[in-house]
Amino acid sequence: MKNIVILGSTGSVGVQTLDIVRTFPNELNVVGLVANNNTQLLNKQIDEFQPDFINFNPQLISSIKLQSAKHEKNIDIISNPIVDIIVVATPSLHSLEETLEALKIGKTIALASKEIIVSAQSLLEEIEDVRKKILPVDSEPSAIWQCIEKESSIANIIITASGGSLRNISTDKYENVTPEQVLNHPVWSMGSKITIDSATFANKAFEVIEAKWLFDIDYEKISVLVHPQSIIHSIVEFNDGSMKAQLANPDMRLPIQHALLYPERKPNDLVSPLNLAEIGKLEFNETDNHKYPCFKLILDAAKLGKSYPALICATDEVLVNAFLNRQIKYTDIPRYLEKIINQHKPSIITKDTIIQITEETRYKTLELINNKL
Ligand SMILES: NC(=O)c1ccc[n+]([C@@H]2O[C@H](COP(=O)([O-])OP(=O)(O)OC[C@H]3O[C@@H](n4cnc5c(N)ncnc54)[C@H](OP(=O)(O)O)[C@@H]3O)[C@@H](O)[C@H]2O)c1
Repeated sequence: MKNIVILGSTGSVGVQTLDIVRTFPNELNVVGLVANNNTQLLNKQIDEFQPDFINFNPQLISSIKLQSAKHEKNIDIISNPIVDIIVVATPSLHSLEETLEALKIGKTIALASKEIIVSAQSLLEEIEDVRKKILPVDSEPSAIWQCIEKESSIANIIITASGGSLRNISTDKYENVTPEQVLNHPVWSMGSKITIDSATFANKAFEVIEAKWLFDIDYEKISVLVHPQSIIHSIVEFNDGSMKAQLANPDMRLPIQHALLYPERKPNDLVSPLNLAEIGKLEFNETDNHKYPCFKLILDAAKLGKSYPALICATDEVLVNAFLNRQIKYTDIPRYLEKIINQHKPSIITKDTIIQITEETRYKTLELINNKL
């Protein structure tokens, strides 16, 4: 039995993690749930899973029915000796402190929040054997992990991309696309931030940065291929020219299960098996830089290192929020991103500066938006 804590239990990844816990009651036990504002769902989760510890937005304390759970700080919940795995599924850097602390004290992290790897690589590097303690939950790094295991002689990694919600819309219409259109993802059902990032390809750039760090491989050896069906979740090419790919129906519950039950594989009726004959053929296309300008902007900046990756994450977060709130147009996202990157004076990321750099970047991005610069 593995005792798990879920940071972000009411979100898209959090809810799907609980689907997996429900399916494997003899293997997984929820001991902690952390959410923010969705007290209605959190109350239902407390009722069903009877966790020992919970945390949520303190202003909403009167709306939570604690039952037998204790209300504790996140850091105390994750540090409890009974905890084996912490699922990190909150956006942005909300769970940075908890992730670093959990890794330092030897806990296993099932990581969905790629922003932590993108922004805080240098802080993660300070932790002994850190890569062995992080199990990827995102479908693409999970696929790479599954293909790479017990292998050496890796030549290249090919990360697949669905192409996002605007993949069939011509770029001359992008100026006027609405948040609703961009939120209507053709394959994946995810939280709103990652769905917009999927359309702009900011998410794909973050995955390249994440894969580079997780699998310790050069940027030059990682490429992205558009695969609209999202059946192949990533591919690894070896020195002898052979390739391994991981295939499954697009359902986040499978990579979540893989991380939580690792190293075991167990049948799961929640995820329908692939019928290859029915699929018939798999489609692939080159990525189009004109359609996805954020991709190159983000990767070029990330390659500069220092505070650039943290800057990109913070800027993108504010821009996506502003687009969702109809303050800016979809096409303003790469425009502002480029401005912020060009104005940036890089510095070294430390535990003391990362939050300050993130806050300053958010402020600067908001200033550009509010002054319509
Ligand atoms: N969704 C996917 O399929 C998917 C796939 C791969 C990777 N990811 C990554 O996983 C992370 C979460 O994505 P998501 O789509 O699950 O997001 P989401 O649906 O927006 O859910 C976010 C979760 O985090 C909680 N939260 C937000 N702010 C918080 C705070 N300040 N303190 C504590 N909890 C907070 C939310 O709580 P409330 O709801 O209670 O407010 C919610 O439980 C992101 O980093 C994303 O890139 C997601």
